[in-house]
Amino acid sequence: MSQPNIVPPLDLKEQIVSLRPALDKAMDRIISTGAFVLGAEVASFEDEIADYLGVEHAVGLNSGTDALVIALRALDVGPGDEVITTPFTFFASAEAICLVGATPVFADIDETTFNICPQAVSNALTPKTKALMPVHLYGRVCNHEELVLASDGLPIVEDACQAFGASWKGTKAGALGAVGSFSFYPTKNLSAFGDGGLLSTNDPNLAQKARMLRQHGEQSRYNNEILGYNSRLDALQAAVLRVKLPHIDKWNDARRTAASRYEKLLTDTPGIILPEIPDGHIVHQYTVRLPGADRDAIQARMREAGVITMVYYPIPAHRLPVFGDRFPSCPVAERLAGEVLSLPVWPEIAPAQQERVVSTLLSALKA
Ligand SMILES: Cc1ncc(COP(=O)(O)O)c(C=O)c1O
Repeated sequence: MSQPNIVPPLDLKEQIVSLRPALDKAMDRIISTGAFVLGAEVASFEDEIADYLGVEHAVGLNSGTDALVIALRALDVGPGDEVITTPFTFFASAEAICLVGATPVFADIDETTFNICPQAVSNALTPKTKALMPVHLYGRVCNHEELVLASDGLPIVEDACQAFGASWKGTKAGALGAVGSFSFYPTKNLSAFGDGGLLSTNDPNLAQKARMLRQHGEQSRYNNEILGYNSRLDALQAAVLRVKLPHIDKWNDARRTAASRYEKLLTDTPGIILPEIPDGHIVHQYTVRLPGADRDAIQARMREAGVITMVYYPIPAHRLPVFGDRFPSCPVAERLAGEVLSLPVWPEIAPAQQERVVSTLLSALKA
């Protein structure tokens, strides 16, 4: 949590303090029932989330990574298949593709949206392509119509782990593709008190398969039909998430307000490219670009001055050590990995804290 004189990248203290009585009550209820895994609490959570997202089915899982793996398994993606994804993401997106035995094919990004470029998707298609996994990075939903056109009707697995509550032309992230995958890791806009994840879909067969996969491939107890996982959401996390869910739109709006404050403070500053925040963006991160500057030195100077920023991500997925030099270059992602800097943002960040972030950034740029 925050220390005096430090502006952290994220501070959940106010959110937790204001909800503390409701959270205590919800956790107390679960402790009294003694039902800790799946059960009625998770079922109610799934219904409420499905309703919020505007999908038929929501399946609670134990992480966003598992939601991606299980989405791919539910679609029968496996060895010999290729899945097109973005290199500008957290490793879990590409990792999930590898974990099901398929091959990631990295299509470069668009430098204004930070998201996968539809033309690059179209160029990456081969007869082996089985699915597309776009990532709604920083809370900005990918251009859905363009991706549908570019991917030739292939199933789309939305990595919506950073985009809970975001939307594209009124449709929520997670309701656009064949399957949506969410993370409730504590830093996410809708966050649990530990790991948690969810898969969303309108397809009853995919939902049923996901429910089997999360519980060792069984539909009825001890009658295991396929190889699955232990990936169940627990009731305490579901209870916490149910307390928070009614507040998510208000929190996402507050993040957008914070983004417009940064925009006002930073507009027309030479050397800084500000992110576009279109309708539906939920500002999971407010990420600026510092082209031509020594980003790491600027980040270090800001840290010395008590402002903690983050870099998402310093090495694009296709260049991570696990892959060696196996994959061809994605020049835009490689360039942006050296330019991006995510400024502190959370719903309750104070205007004075944002002013301090900006003045520290400007001094660090000049130094
Ligand atoms: C884009 C993206 N995909 C996948 C994940 C994985 O989610 P989890 O940490 O819940 O496994 C994350 C979480 O950081 C993410 O940001």
